[in-house]
Amino acid sequence: MSDEVWWKSGVIYQVYPRSFQDSNGDGIGDLEGIRRRLDDLARLGVDALWISPFYPSPMADFGYDIADYCGVDPTFGTLADFDALLAQAHARDLRIIVDLVPNHTSDRHPWFVESRSSRANPKRDWYLWRDGKPDGTPPNNWLSNFGGPAWTFDDATGQYYYHAFLAQQPDLNWRNPAVREAMYDVMRFWLRRGVDGFRVDVIYHLIKDDLFRDNPVNAEVRAGDRSSREVIPLYTTDRPEVLEIVEQMRRVVDEFGDSGRPRVLIGEIYLPIPRLMAYYGRSEHGVLQGAQLPFNFQLIGARWEARAIDRIVRDYEAALPAGGWPNWVLGNHDKPRIASRVGLEQARVAAMLLLTLRGTPTLYYGDEIGMRDVTIPNDEVQDPFEKNEPGKGVGRDPERTPMQWDATAHAGFTTGHPWLRLGEDWASRNVATLADDPHSILTFHRRMLALRRRYPALATGAYEPSMTGDHLFAYARVGIAGRVVVMLNFGADPVDVPPTLMPRNPVALLSTHLDRDGALALPLTLRGNEGVVVAGAPEANTVAA
Ligand code: GLC
Repeated sequence: MSDEVWWKSGVIYQVYPRSFQDSNGDGIGDLEGIRRRLDDLARLGVDALWISPFYPSPMADFGYDIADYCGVDPTFGTLADFDALLAQAHARDLRIIVDLVPNHTSDRHPWFVESRSSRANPKRDWYLWRDGKPDGTPPNNWLSNFGGPAWTFDDATGQYYYHAFLAQQPDLNWRNPAVREAMYDVMRFWLRRGVDGFRVDVIYHLIKDDLFRDNPVNAEVRAGDRSSREVIPLYTTDRPEVLEIVEQMRRVVDEFGDSGRPRVLIGEIYLPIPRLMAYYGRSEHGVLQGAQLPFNFQLIGARWEARAIDRIVRDYEAALPAGGWPNWVLGNHDKPRIASRVGLEQARVAAMLLLTLRGTPTLYYGDEIGMRDVTIPNDEVQDPFEKNEPGKGVGRDPERTPMQWDATAHAGFTTGHPWLRLGEDWASRNVATLADDPHSILTFHRRMLALRRRYPALATGAYEPSMTGDHLFAYARVGIAGRVVVMLNFGADPVDVPPTLMPRNPVALLSTHLDRDGALALPLTLRGNEGVVVAGAPEANTVAA
């Protein structure tokens, strides 16, 4: 029964609010825009929206620099807009997950304004202030993830403060209990409003070494590169004490879980699998105490080959703690889009993989229509990461371009001037056009999502690896009501499927090419870049009846 909980069986869809739907013509998406698109999202068939930050912010890092955790930036609307969005999402059975950014605030947040005002200020210790070395240089060798030193000198009080990202994003001191209480109250503020959970930004960053030791130098990276990759973040991320905070956050979320509406804690964590597993938390009386879904980003960096993916899935399944529920992510607002990474044809195979592996899938907006990274000319670059490290290919604007809704001006995203240029293909690659095409990638996503609902084995069934070849990767999902086989061709050439993989009386439930339905003639040959979901006829009858 508990496997039916929404955050296990459902599909999460990430909305980057700046780029989803503008409602007031300023060229920037907003909450009212998202509200107007709820029917489109319900039609797509997702279960929950995770909305990237919409809080008051100077937008140095486009909302990941927060100046007030309990409000809405005027660019995005008002708290009343949020309440309307939440109520109307819930009315459609769509959950809302909000972004929590506890590692750092904006430098304009009143807490930091106070903290930097004097060494004696009560909030001084809410951030990480240190003296420089005797020669005046920064306290240690820690580097910013966005390039350059992670320490900025503050003239007024003569000390350095630490920032894992921009200088406009000072890190909070999570060793201070008052900081913890303040942030847990922020969580309660949104939980009380009715949100269904949090995606916690860089949760593995919260605690830094108490001795502020130098990070080890990374021998593989050229010195003078100025990028954070020059050092190994041993003393700045994944410190053992952070796990206690993850559990405290989980307890806050659970304070609100009794209402018959379970809430979820998702952690943004880029760590090797054994370390990632620790974020599920300790097991107490058989219940894991940490994040329910520590984001699993392995598909984002994976070599796109059948054997490599098979290995990733097996190792991940094997590493999960007892009771730990898996999850899979194909893309997000920080990484190149899937259709650019693997090509448009493989993007369907990737989506079939994402939506049939065991574990909660997170889908990035626009991937359902095959949006690709958009080249942004230098003079239009918005992303501070790209501005700090130009020309290294780190910029995130390409995957943040406006959603392509229809063939009207600016793809129906805005009546004004879009904050970031649209993909050149918008006039044909948009929701309205692709919805009418029975063979489009959007139609494929809709049918795949509908299939997950019809065959619960696809959402919550057990995972059974069945075979891997040079290009073919096949597995089964097994539930009480039946067994479903997934076969994916990672190559561009046809592959023959060994008949032993096939259920008796095989019936095609869905092909990425959207042209197979009903009884399958054997032997089956998958076309290049084709994936197929197959069931045996008796099960198909029972389940679909
Ligand atoms: C996370 C966000 C990213 C942001 C960074 C700093 O990695 O996903 O967009 O820039 O944290 O908040």
